[in-house]
Amino acid sequence: MPRTELIWDGKYDPQGNRVPVPRVELPFQTVETVNEPAADRRNLWSALDAEMPWRNRLIWGDKKYVLPSLLPEFAGKVDLIYIDPPFDTGADFSFTATIPGPPDDEDDAAAFTKLPSVIELKAYRDTWGKGLDSYLSWFYETAVLLHELLAETGSLYVHLDWHVGHYAKIVLDEVFGAERCHNEVIWKRTGARSNSTTFNHIHDVGLLYSKGDQFTFNVQFAPLDTVYTDKYYIYKEADGRRYATVIAMQPGIRNGPCGRPWRGFDPAEKGSHWKYTPTELDRLDGEGRIYWPKKNDGLPRMKAYLSEAKGVTLQSIWSDIPAVNSQAQERTDYPTQKPAALLERIIRSSSNEGDLVLDCVVGSGTTAVVAEKLGRRWVAADLGRFAVHTTRKRLLAVPGVKPFVVQNFGRYERQRWLTGRFAPGGPESDQAADLRHREYTDFMLGLYHAQPVRGYSYLHGKKGERFVHVGGVDGPVTTGDVKDLAIEFRKAVGGGKDAPGTNGIDVLGWDFAFEQHEVAAQSAAAANIHLRFKRIPRDVMDKRAVAAGDIQFFELAALGATATPKGLTVAVELTDFVIPPDDVPQEVQQAVRHWSQWIDFWAVDWSYAGDSFHNEWQAFRTRKGPKLPLSTTHTYPEPGEYKILVKVIDILGNDTTKTLTVKVGTPDAAPKEEAKRRPARPVRG
Ligand SMILES: C[S@@+](CC[C@H](N)C(=O)[O-])C[C@H]1O[C@@H](n2cnc3c(N)ncnc32)[C@H](O)[C@@H]1O
Repeated sequence: MPRTELIWDGKYDPQGNRVPVPRVELPFQTVETVNEPAADRRNLWSALDAEMPWRNRLIWGDKKYVLPSLLPEFAGKVDLIYIDPPFDTGADFSFTATIPGPPDDEDDAAAFTKLPSVIELKAYRDTWGKGLDSYLSWFYETAVLLHELLAETGSLYVHLDWHVGHYAKIVLDEVFGAERCHNEVIWKRTGARSNSTTFNHIHDVGLLYSKGDQFTFNVQFAPLDTVYTDKYYIYKEADGRRYATVIAMQPGIRNGPCGRPWRGFDPAEKGSHWKYTPTELDRLDGEGRIYWPKKNDGLPRMKAYLSEAKGVTLQSIWSDIPAVNSQAQERTDYPTQKPAALLERIIRSSSNEGDLVLDCVVGSGTTAVVAEKLGRRWVAADLGRFAVHTTRKRLLAVPGVKPFVVQNFGRYERQRWLTGRFAPGGPESDQAADLRHREYTDFMLGLYHAQPVRGYSYLHGKKGERFVHVGGVDGPVTTGDVKDLAIEFRKAVGGGKDAPGTNGIDVLGWDFAFEQHEVAAQSAAAANIHLRFKRIPRDVMDKRAVAAGDIQFFELAALGATATPKGLTVAVELTDFVIPPDDVPQEVQQAVRHWSQWIDFWAVDWSYAGDSFHNEWQAFRTRKGPKLPLSTTHTYPEPGEYKILVKVIDILGNDTTKTLTVKVGTPDAAPKEEAKRRPARPVRG
């Protein structure tokens, strides 16, 4: 049967078959737990484990992996989805980073715009690379997976504007069915302007779809407007309460008590009956809730107090919620942040307490924060590193925030890239694995502008005078790796005091074991080896970024911290932080006078057990409270040796961690690690 449909390039293959929606399912890796009670600490948190209590989830990842990976657990289980997808502007990924003032002049803050990373630009190109066609593919794939995730009684809100709202409607009609579209809400986000040659665009649209014909919907009320209240709420009690009067009868003659005369007035004469029985009317009159007009026939009316008015049933035009402006308390400096009041209205309308809310493009975290405040469960994801950091900070500022986990795909995404990119296809054999490893290291060396060297296990290449080691995709570079490297290096260059002092090794890694930087650098220095640790950026997985030759390997930031025990209490103090200069514009570097200005957030896991980071204490800057304490204390319940993990997130959203070991409650307890040692790199300014 012929039907109306929207066709875009890529919807059908050359044979006329629908191109299937990609479904790459990857395991989630929990990298952090936040506010987890000590008793509930687990080595590996998994929502699949029925024993585990529910944990809200903040996921750093592309929705193209996040949505298929959520399906095994959540298909048909999500009660409400809100998405505010990116549209036609790379600005979705830029953000304003704030440089706080130095400790001696905290008002002297500055800001700069951090442009999108290559991986973020890639996502933007995935969405808009081929214009509308690629956007529609992106949007269609999203809609199909969201539809599968929704519960039968669930709803989807899609927030767009006039550029693509109408295309999205047709795609959603196709996926959900046109009869499942219930509203096109107009959100008037700004007042009048005068800078356009046509009518100014002052609204966004929100499309509301349900999955089935029964769906959760709680009627909401908007406040009465003043024109209305001034017109009708014209009476005042002696105590100042304003009220309007409303008729006390309803049409239709009744034979029961409500149809009988009351105080000399017979409702039947007006073809009506009372809204209440005469007994109830007596009580209401006793409470002063009946209005007796002096004029006309004096027919009694009910008083309707303004303070008790619910408001008007909410309609489809919302003009009472302003956009987040520059002075708003809730402002995060995330350019596309939506007001919490908007999400509050949506979440209240289409979910109930305990329901599950999902947003896979959560940006500054508005959906997660409002869902948390309203007692809903939530899963929130975003591709942007800064988005995830902003969301975490906002959540931590919610009083009584429930424990949540931060997840990503980490090595699973890399493994998938590795097997797809190098020596693909065919059954796995040792030979194929070796070939793949060789191709992978050579590829990475090429990006690092280094030459491969053969005959070693750990030394993979040379760049100028320095050797290069390429860390594998499967796990972090460990202290053991560094020891093996050092042994091989000494053999290669003649070891001991004869080893050239300027020679060194650049260690490229996706991740580094937490203690790596300090411990490894110290032992390497003792062996007269100069190590530099550089992070392999996710951008290497993007063909276009590779082709453009714009891959940069940034050195790890260096964190200085001390742990000083006294009895069962330990004091942890940050003593230094050096961020590699490469990622930061020159003028920003100059604006920083004290190392602490680089730090936006820090958190501590007091009993790190080698699993994910358990955030048990944290401090961070906010607009209202830009000051950051640089020390904290903790009291352990019993004596012993504890590993403390300190995590710092800089103003660009990058994190750096450091382990400290401390003995408490024992007579010989003494400061253990990092005795006021400053990092190897000089501090600017
Ligand atoms: C318009 S913003 C959302 C703003 C959000 N509603 C708020 O209140 O802050 C769109 C978000 O989509 C994210 N994004 C874009 N493409 C993505 C993808 N493929 N996967 C996940 N997130 C993506 C961007 O990082 C950006 O944060």
